[in-house]
Amino acid sequence: MDLRTEHLAPTVGPDPTTLPLSLARGILFCILEVCKGGNLRKKFYSKTCPEAEDIVRTKIQTHVSARPNLPAKLIRMHFHDCFVRGCDGSVLLDSTATNTAEKDAFPNSSLSGFDVIDDIKEALEAKCPGIVSCADILALAARDAVAVKSTNSWEVLTGRRDGTVSSSSEVLANLPAPFFNFTQLKASFASKQLTVHDLVVLSGGHTIGIGHCNLFSNRLFNFTGKGDQDPSLDPTYANTLKTKCQGSSDSTTEIELDPNSSNTFDSDYYSILLQNKGLFQSDAALLTTKISKNIVNELVTESKFFTEFGQSMKRMGAIEVLTGSDGEIRRKCSVVNSS
Ligand code: HEM
Ligand SMILES: *[C@@H]1O[C@H](CO)[C@@H](O)[C@H](O)[C@H]1NC(C)=O
Ligand SMILES: *[C@@H]1O[C@H](CO)[C@@H](O)[C@H](O)[C@H]1NC(C)=O
Ligand SMILES: *[C@@H]1O[C@H](CO)[C@@H](O)[C@H](O)[C@H]1NC(C)=O
Ligand SMILES: *[C@@H]1O[C@H](CO)[C@@H](O)[C@H](O)[C@H]1NC(C)=O
Repeated sequence: MDLRTEHLAPTVGPDPTTLPLSLARGILFCILEVCKGGNLRKKFYSKTCPEAEDIVRTKIQTHVSARPNLPAKLIRMHFHDCFVRGCDGSVLLDSTATNTAEKDAFPNSSLSGFDVIDDIKEALEAKCPGIVSCADILALAARDAVAVKSTNSWEVLTGRRDGTVSSSSEVLANLPAPFFNFTQLKASFASKQLTVHDLVVLSGGHTIGIGHCNLFSNRLFNFTGKGDQDPSLDPTYANTLKTKCQGSSDSTTEIELDPNSSNTFDSDYYSILLQNKGLFQSDAALLTTKISKNIVNELVTESKFFTEFGQSMKRMGAIEVLTGSDGEIRRKCSVVNSS
């Protein structure tokens, strides 16, 4: 910073008290952000690959019609990508002989849809080789998959570049766990520059998809070590869940996160939550502070949820992104270029 201010000094004009500062700020901003291509932007590929976003959308429509659970898979994959090393496509990389990648870490259960990203990438490489990043494909695909069967959509800024590192050992420390309490969830989101408001809004992603029994069964069978249930879970619903899960270590049975509408992207998640039927402790935790509970109450209104979800997804989609000349544009989403 010193260097830049000094460098600036000779060009100082008539008002030496204010001008240098604003110029210095401008140049610093340029160095930190703009000149590096720092920010994501709308339609980043409009000149370099004008059909990019259409290709993603068309491909996704075909895949979703054959696989109704794909929107849930892709939106969760994007979330995992962004929370570990930023939205850099690191979740897409395969393990190698010398490295265990994120996708082979423990909390990967049920991550899937990698084949769909690969298929889209192949189509894009055929059209405009080396242009569209895997991280952007994932961000666009998650949005487009949800939009196939919902009136909800959101703007996805583009210009992300792909990372070259993916490590299973970084996953646990960066992803919130389903047994987290409010304090832990808040800290996890804060570490990604996301607010409590973002936390409550993005948890609404659980309006679609499934969870495996072993990730919440402590709430059913032995909550405090006395063979008891979690008192914050509706007892009737807990009994229903007990008949579905085959004991506390059942890692194969899948339960809808948003019972009765788990393929529909709507605001039911919040009404269900208010009935104490949220599946994970992390869902129920949103009712444990006044601030977060108030947000839950607001988001029951679907139009409100949809608007807020778009805003928060934009913030999540910008976590620690690589832009400008950082990282690379992978040719194949599951491997880094140099290999
Ligand atoms: C707040 C912290 C969060 C926690 C603790 C959490 C935890 C989990 C867990 C444990 C599962 C079940 C995985 C399985 O059993 O296969 C799950 C599923 C899911 N999560 Fe989250 N999640 C969180 C936030 C989010 C966010 C921010 C999004 C996206 C915006 C999201 C979207 C999803 C989706 C769509 C599924 C269903 C996946 C499927 O059907 O395969 N989650 N989450
Ligand atoms: C998840 O990780 C395990 C190893 O812990 C691995 O065997 C499995 O293939 C991974 N699942 C996915 C979908 O990558
Ligand atoms: C949340 O969990 C952490 C870690 O287990 C614990 O230290 C803390 O006291 C808990 N906070 C609340 C409010 O329960
Ligand atoms: C419940 O947990 C306690 C403490 O971990 C353990 O001693 C007990 O055997 C468990 N009971 C059941 C029914 O699993
Ligand atoms: C789902 O629908 C069934 C049948 O209408 C109903 O009995 C059940 O209570 C609903 N589940 C939840 C969690 O509301």
